[in-house]
Amino acid sequence: MNKSLQFEHPVENLTSPLQQSFTLPCGLTIPNRIAKAGMSEQLGDRHGSPTVELEQLYAAWARGGAGLFITGNVMVDHHYFVEPRNAVLESDRFLAAYKLWAKAVHAHGGKIIMQINHPGRVAVLPLLKRPVAPSAVGLDLPAMNIIRVPRAMTEAEILEQIQRFATTAALAVQAGFDGVQVHAAHGYLISQFLSPLANIRTDGWGGSPEKRRRLLIETVRAVRQAIGPNKALSVKLNSADFQKGGLSQQESMDIALALEAEGIDLLEISGGNYESPAQLGYTPGKQTERDAYFLDYAEQLRRQSKMPLMLTGGLRKVDVMNRIVSDGVVDLVGMARPFAMQPNLAKQLFAGQSVNEPPQIPAIGYKPVDAYLQLAWHAAQFRRISSGRDPKPLGGLIRTVLAFGPRMGFNILTQH
Ligand SMILES: Cc1cc2nc3c(=O)[nH]c(=O)nc-3n(C[C@H](O)[C@H](O)[C@H](O)COP(=O)(O)O)c2cc1C
Repeated sequence: MNKSLQFEHPVENLTSPLQQSFTLPCGLTIPNRIAKAGMSEQLGDRHGSPTVELEQLYAAWARGGAGLFITGNVMVDHHYFVEPRNAVLESDRFLAAYKLWAKAVHAHGGKIIMQINHPGRVAVLPLLKRPVAPSAVGLDLPAMNIIRVPRAMTEAEILEQIQRFATTAALAVQAGFDGVQVHAAHGYLISQFLSPLANIRTDGWGGSPEKRRRLLIETVRAVRQAIGPNKALSVKLNSADFQKGGLSQQESMDIALALEAEGIDLLEISGGNYESPAQLGYTPGKQTERDAYFLDYAEQLRRQSKMPLMLTGGLRKVDVMNRIVSDGVVDLVGMARPFAMQPNLAKQLFAGQSVNEPPQIPAIGYKPVDAYLQLAWHAAQFRRISSGRDPKPLGGLIRTVLAFGPRMGFNILTQH
């Protein structure tokens, strides 16, 4: 870090809106407004326990001064994984390792919320098992799901998954996490239930907006019951699916208001899914505005809601971050990818530095492969940061594939 920048504008920086603390309704005080959004670290062991590498990654990030750390998605069910080497929390078997993970952040003054998730129809593992989903509707992506069209969940399976979210949440707070975030975005199980394209059920869990959101609302209730009123309950929600016939912005706004009525502590706003990855900036028909992808939605929601809001996706300009926090549009600014290149991001921004230009990550134009390249590229950075090395851009397609491809293959084959 450039030391001279650190002391250039000390008076201005001390009063920067991003440096003010913020207290959630549950009583949790976050020391500043910068949050690291969830990024799947793929640093669990083959049984789903957090590893020392994961703990060290978070210690490095926490030294970087952000106020809140939302973990990459932790699975609620060891039968279904988003990626190999996801952490899984469904019993007290790995609790000691989870405690170390939370402690790594607390030791540096940050707060940590565990994101909990079920992949539904996009489960990567087990490779040869049919994934479960609201309905037997595969992904609308060429060559995907030829052999992996999901099967519709029974009601008993839906109720079991709600219970699993609650169990994982209870264990998370037992391990010392400051709360949990229910992942209801990006096309995973709960987001699939919200989508009129993926959920074509005609029972009590689909068919109307209220029934499609029932899984989310019942999960939130069960999770609150499990963690009590003094731990943070957050939800990550799509502002829209950015697909014709998918979750619309209006319906998402109604869901957000329903979540406010449930008394959640923090809504993280995102958007998109595997078919339309708006969360990474690929928004159809909106290719010019690259900063703060979902800001319009946040502004609209803020007019109707007082609930704490975190905005994530393409936030890069510090003046925009300062403005939206000081105007009260959002309470926390979320960033994900910049933390892979700037582990000390918060300290750097407080010292007057900016978010670096995004690195070039190889892409071939076919979404599933590009998503894999993003994952591989970032996973390689997480390993570097965790072992005390500086992040280093990987040049070219071949290098990116080689940096993680063999490991990913090995991980898939050996995951328990
Ligand atoms: C490698 C990688 C892994 C991700 N894993 C998760 C995840 O586990 N949970 C989640 O909610 N979002 C995940 N995301 C999405 C980010 O949280 C965030 O919504 C997105 O990257 C946009 O924010 P950004 O522009 O600041 O990167 C991931 C993104 C990347 C690049």
